[in-house]
Amino acid sequence: MKLPEQVKIVEVGPRDGLQNERAAVPLEVKVELCDRLSAAGVANLEAGAFVSPKWVPQMADSAQVMAQIVRRPGTIYSVLTPNLQGFEAALAARADEVVIFSAASEAFSQRNINCSIAQSIERFVPVAAAAKAARVRLRGSISCSLGCPYQGEVPVGAVVDVVERLAALGCDEIDIADTIGVGTPKRTRAVMEAAAAVFPIERLSGHFHDTYGQAIANIYASLEVGINIFHASTAGLGGCPYARGATGNVATEDVLFMLQGIGIDTGIDLDAIVSTGQWISGLLGRRTESRAGNALAARRSA
Ligand code: HMG
Ligand code: MG
Repeated sequence: MKLPEQVKIVEVGPRDGLQNERAAVPLEVKVELCDRLSAAGVANLEAGAFVSPKWVPQMADSAQVMAQIVRRPGTIYSVLTPNLQGFEAALAARADEVVIFSAASEAFSQRNINCSIAQSIERFVPVAAAAKAARVRLRGSISCSLGCPYQGEVPVGAVVDVVERLAALGCDEIDIADTIGVGTPKRTRAVMEAAAAVFPIERLSGHFHDTYGQAIANIYASLEVGINIFHASTAGLGGCPYARGATGNVATEDVLFMLQGIGIDTGIDLDAIVSTGQWISGLLGRRTESRAGNALAARRSA
């Protein structure tokens, strides 16, 4: 099986990573995190979320983050927009891409965005139309594609159903998200193949949380299917406020280390990401979750 020669990494640390932090992360830290990541060569950065501040207080200052970052030419800055109110804020903030997010599980949809899957799609219709009119890229994300914290098993058909609905809204990219990190490679392969049967594979992405240590294996399985976009979070920051016990996304350092080893180009400077991972983890008062990040940092100081 020939693997892709290039992979796009969507760095989600500033959004998925920080959204779960209990203590408010200072605005200047968020801005510096984004700027360090784009300077490292990140071509797609999820910088914040225009969601209700009552639901996710940590993202309340996303407009200020977007206003203060240094825009690196060539980097796509994405933000989450659950409804038209969020979209208008995203447009004002000059986001390059907006993300509408649904789920393959009804129970999770209710907990995360307070509505059913069908209602969420209805809510996204005007958002998608507005994004198209404003020529802003549109991405769709499907939580719980490999399992749900409330419902357990999620049928592959449920994922495909949401892929088709998001495709009908005109999504440029669709994320298959393993919110609670329970997926294993065989299942991942099956879901990716099923999704690729109804949506162009080059515009499908894998968003893996690493709760059970399966994310790298799942990325490799996805590469074998032909997926070439993956989400990752520097230092493995994060979790989801509506998926208790879920840990962060797969660490960017770990993904880059594997891809470099295989000879797949991402355009990102691993060394700079290692430094950024150590820096942000230090500020948050913890050790970096990335195994590769810690090993590379230790080698430096040896
Ligand atoms: P609701 O309470 O059902 O909606 O929330 P509402 O329309 O009744 O609004 C309630 C209040 O929120 C109102 O304010 C609105 O103005 C305000 P009030 O009148 O009470 O003062 N509001 C907003 N404020 C700012 N920006 C907005 C906005 N919308 C409403 N856009 C809603 C529904 C969808 C808004 C809410 O449930 C919400 O914001 N949910 C977001 C949850 C979230 O951010 N979850 C984490 C991100 S998803 C994720 O992490 C998964 C992902 O990583 C993939 C994976 O791993 O699975 C993407
Ligand atoms: Mg996530």
